[in-house]
Formats: sequence, C-alpha cells, structure tokens
Amino acid sequence: AEQMKPEGRPEIFDFQGISMVNYFTDNWENVQNFHARPDDILIATYPKAGTTWVSYILDLLYFGKDMPERQTTLPIYERVPFLEFAVPVMHTGTELAEKLSTCPRLIKTHLPVQLIPKALWEQNCKVVYVARNAKDNAVSYFHFDRMNKVQPEPGDWNSYIEKFMEGKTVFGPWYDHVTGWWEKKQNYSNIHYMFYEDLIEDTGRELERLCSFLGLSTTAEERECIRGGTQFDAMKANPMANYSTIPVMDFKISPFMRKGKVGDWRNHFTVSQNEEFDEHYKQKMKNSTLVFRTQI
Ligand code: A3P
Repeated sequence: AEQMKPEGRPEIFDFQGISMVNYFTDNWENVQNFHARPDDILIATYPKAGTTWVSYILDLLYFGKDMPERQTTLPIYERVPFLEFAVPVMHTGTELAEKLSTCPRLIKTHLPVQLIPKALWEQNCKVVYVARNAKDNAVSYFHFDRMNKVQPEPGDWNSYIEKFMEGKTVFGPWYDHVTGWWEKKQNYSNIHYMFYEDLIEDTGRELERLCSFLGLSTTAEERECIRGGTQFDAMKANPMANYSTIPVMDFKISPFMRKGKVGDWRNHFTVSQNEEFDEHYKQKMKNSTLVFRTQI
C-alpha cells in the first residue's frame, strides 16, 4: 500500500474495481473479517449523501435520553465508527467498533454493497442507506475533496464533474453505489433506503419512518426534540457534530457543514454541463427504478 505523506494527498488506485485511496483499504483484512453482531446497525452511504445527519439522528434515538454526557464529550465520528477508516495516528474503524460499549453499535460505511463484510449479512444486521441526488452529491463531494487532506485533490470543478461521471471519485461510481444498494433490497429485507431530499423536505416524517423500521417507539415530543437538535444550523454549531475537532480537514477552505440544501448544484453546473450530465445520467440509470429529486 501507499505510504502516507503527511503533507501530500493520497493517490487513487483501483481496488477490486473501485477507485480507492489507501486510507480506506490499508485495514482491509480486519474490515473483511469484521465480527458483526446481530444488533449492529450499519449506516451506508455514498460519501456526502447525509451520513453525518442520519448518524446523529440514530445516535440520539438510541442514546440521547440515557447518556446525556455523550452529547457533550464524544464527537460523532467516535460514536459511529467509520468501518474502513485507516488513517495513521488515528484509531482504525474496526478498532473503534470493537471498543464500543454501546448496544446497539452504530457503524458507518461508504463501501459499495459488493464489498460489505460477509458477517453483516450473516448476522442479518439492520442497514440504513442514505442516498442523495447525483448533482448535489457531486457538488458536496467536490468541496469536501478540497478541504479534506485524506482525499485526493479534486482539481477544478470542470475536471471534477468529469471524474465523477467516470466513477473515478473515491468509493467508485455514484451510479453503481446507489443502484447496487437499491437492488440489494430485493433479497435482503433489513434495509431502510432513505433520501436526503426527503429528510430536508420533512424530517419529522422521515424520523417516524426510521423509527418504524428500527422498531423503536418514541413519543412525538422526543421526535420533535431530535428533529430540532439535528437541523442544519444546530449541527453546524455543535462541535460534537460538525467535525471541527478532526485534524485532517481545513475549514478555512470549506466547512464540513457547508450548505445543507437541495439544489446547490445550480450554482455550479453550467447549462452545457447540465445537459451533458443529464444525457449521461439517463444512460447510466436506464435499468434502475430509482428516482431522485434534484429540487424540492
Ligand atoms: P453540503 O456540502 O451540500 O452542504 P456526509 O455527512 O455524508 O459527509 O454529508 C455531508 C453533507 O450533508 C453536506 O452537504 C452537509 O452540509 C450536509 N448535512 C450535514 N448535516 C446536515 C443537516 N443536519 N441538515 C442538512 N444537511 C446536512
């Protein structure tokens, strides 16, 4: 594997057909042999689809009431380990997961469905998948790659959007990711497939659906409290939720909690980029029943 260059950015390479950087493959033995427990809950997403938002919602649903100290002392990335994470000097995702004393364990992954460790399927773990429309997802990923030193340099927006369409961004093609997980639902019923746009449109409704999937009974008051505490402005101002404590990101370039909107792609795509993207998208998605909203 590539050595870490403290100042430099990682190189992209092909890993089992997926564009990857060493920070997500260096611990592969342990990822592949991950000891899943039946009550583990996996939060799976393509990067920048709303992972942190849904992670925080789940954390509050399970531990918000009984573990108040958790809310002020433990950043979200330690509450919800990132399974394949392997950045030197920091704990790996599998180490953090093993150390978790909570029940259930909430575990985050960006892996495409075909790379998920077998044990999670064997244990019939619940999976919450979050998807976001391709255009906003690409824009968000572009700004993230600008500020996050464990990601490759994005280059300018024009070259980035080409890279995104070619599936050369880290964790591979968005198209295969969202459709692969969507298809998985057909033979694995323990998946709740959510959309970022739905969450923005009606967080309360999505919370109810989520609770019903998880088999959690909550009062309207509890849900309202979680809804409020996880709105964009609240999370942006919350050091335990906004990633301001992680050393690899430069918020002077772009903050982690950047805009939190549906439709910011309009501020990035040119008219001709948009036409080209739509045409390519139609081809890529023609065999899928998945429908996304690029505005609400
Ligand atoms: P933008 O870059 O479009 O603002 P992830 O957690 O998967 O990395 O996704 C990050 C994206 O979700 C960012 O999108 C971020 O601002 C947005 N986000 C995070 N928390 C949010 C919230 N509570 N409400 C709305 N958007 C949120």
